[in-house]
Amino acid sequence: GLPSRVTIWEVGARDGLQNEQAVVPVEVKLEFLDRLAAAGLGVLEATSFVHPRWVPQLADAEDLLARLRQADGVRYPVLVPNERGLDRALAAGVRHVAIFGSATETFAKRNLNRTLDEQYAMFEPVVARARAEGLDVRAYVSMCFGDPWEGPVDPTRVAAVGKRLMDLGCSQLSLGDTIGVATPGQVEAVLGQVAAAGVGVDAVAVHFHDTYGQALSNTLAALRLGVTTVDSSAGGLGGCPYAESATGNLATEDLVWMLDGLGVETGVDLDKLADTSAWMAERLGRPSPSRVVRALRG
Ligand code: HMG
Ligand code: MG
Repeated sequence: GLPSRVTIWEVGARDGLQNEQAVVPVEVKLEFLDRLAAAGLGVLEATSFVHPRWVPQLADAEDLLARLRQADGVRYPVLVPNERGLDRALAAGVRHVAIFGSATETFAKRNLNRTLDEQYAMFEPVVARARAEGLDVRAYVSMCFGDPWEGPVDPTRVAAVGKRLMDLGCSQLSLGDTIGVATPGQVEAVLGQVAAAGVGVDAVAVHFHDTYGQALSNTLAALRLGVTTVDSSAGGLGGCPYAESATGNLATEDLVWMLDGLGVETGVDLDKLADTSAWMAERLGRPSPSRVVRALRG
């Protein structure tokens, strides 16, 4: 069966804009977030408190948070890799944070400048302090289905990494197909191992990139297994600057089109959302890669 309602975790302002060549002005980011809230999205990942040299596109995190008009009932989580990032997020008044680990050694090194063991040591005090401050903490795991340097990734390894991050005190585990290579059978295998490791499906989210056009099929496979939180990005913006061959995330419009058709509630107004992505595409100077945005607004 399918869930009656799905929570969309909108990552456009973070995963989307972190990968743009040009740095998007903070005014445009703020309007983007306002429009996404007005379109009915209830979780807007706003930015990352990472090293500004590593991701210059999000170097305006403090300014963005200071000027953000938070909509009622909307959550605005941010990424934090380490205690320095958490300090910055706390100073900005953030209430929800996400740590982001890797399932593979190579990507841990490239994305975090850490070994796998070192990544846990980095995250442990972040989660402990965030929880002590009453914050909610999500854990991402990247490269859950394949890694550009290491190839296929063993689902039992993904599950072990995810469990270890959850055991630090996180409330949700987002399984990332960073480079968009997964297919639905793999999704079933990874979700099976994650459940076997003791992480309940209620705590699991899926995060698909659409490089090979499989994101929607993979999402449907996950929904059939009981997942009810799906990450996506308005207009299909996105990618990771430290992952070779990563393209945009699953487009939120593509997801909403499918869920509307299936009678699964999201609370999202597709029309307003497509307008927002068309507006953003104009700001970025190129058309949205989302099939649904092109069909509705092309
Ligand atoms: P490092 O070079 O090892 O940092 O980078 P360090 O701990 O050695 O510190 C060096 C200096 O940086 C120090 O300053 C720190 O204070 C400063 P100094 O004492 O030399 O003057 N520093 C910071 N400054 C500001 N904010 C901070 C911060 N941390 C240290 N947070 C680090 C380690 C983790 C910082 C770096 O590797 C980094 O910023 N990485 C982030 C990469 C990133 O954002 N990638 C994209 C997000 S992940 C993703 O997109 C995947 C996802 O979507 C899921 C999926 O698709 O799979 C989530
Ligand atoms: Mg991503």
